[in-house]
Amino acid sequence: MTFTVAIDGPAAAGKGTISKAVAAHFGFAHLDTGLLYRAVGAKVLAGGDPVVAAKALTPADMEGDLRTPEVAQAASRVAVLPDVRAALVAFQRSFAVQDGGAVLDGRDIGTVICPEAQVKLFVTASADVRAERRFLELSEKGLSDTREQVLADVVARDKRDSERAEAPLKPAADAVIIDTSDLSIAEAVARAVQEIENRR
Ligand code: CDP
Ligand code: CDP
Repeated sequence: MTFTVAIDGPAAAGKGTISKAVAAHFGFAHLDTGLLYRAVGAKVLAGGDPVVAAKALTPADMEGDLRTPEVAQAASRVAVLPDVRAALVAFQRSFAVQDGGAVLDGRDIGTVICPEAQVKLFVTASADVRAERRFLELSEKGLSDTREQVLADVVARDKRDSERAEAPLKPAADAVIIDTSDLSIAEAVARAVQEIENRR
């Protein structure tokens, strides 16, 4: 049985947290597609060519610490390139239709990668709330970015992701919007689980 859950939204909205929780709840596989773009971004920071890197990506490239602000910005810069996106489509689509169900989170899952997904969620929150969440995560990791830098980074990345010509960040016409600004993680996960239950 295949069953695809597409979870899109802007930076630090809670996509990954919700995806992991619903994957565990339903026994679905989970793919954080942002890691694909982060891995390509990291290769470019190390001097590589983005299209060559995207075509040659292996699971080993997704290991290591890709969750830094520098890698996030590099990811969103390579993510505007149509040839980079094209090189990553087949892997994501085959992951989505594996037997047993799959959750994919990213920016274009419901619109481009899996327009046939059974469930599409667009997880969002105000920029201030998202920047504060990301700031707390980065300070726990010992990174010294200020609140202002983190907010500016998140806003710049959202703008680049939303305004690009290829696969821009936007809710699919049939996506359910979940605004997590005033939701705890447990409340946000419960909303997502309910939406999936409704369509199973
Ligand atoms: O994957 P995405 O960048 O959308 O966000 P995330 O990494 O799942 O979440 C960013 C941070 O917000 C994490 O530290 C979460 O614990 C926190 N958070 C959340 O995900 N949902 C809430 N309702 C409240 C906080
Ligand atoms: O966790 P966070 O939401 O901050 O970022 P991410 O999901 O790891 O994505 C990093 C960057 O990769 C995004 O800012 C996008 O530019 C790009 N991306 C994309 O274009 N399409 C996807 N399906 C996933 C990520």
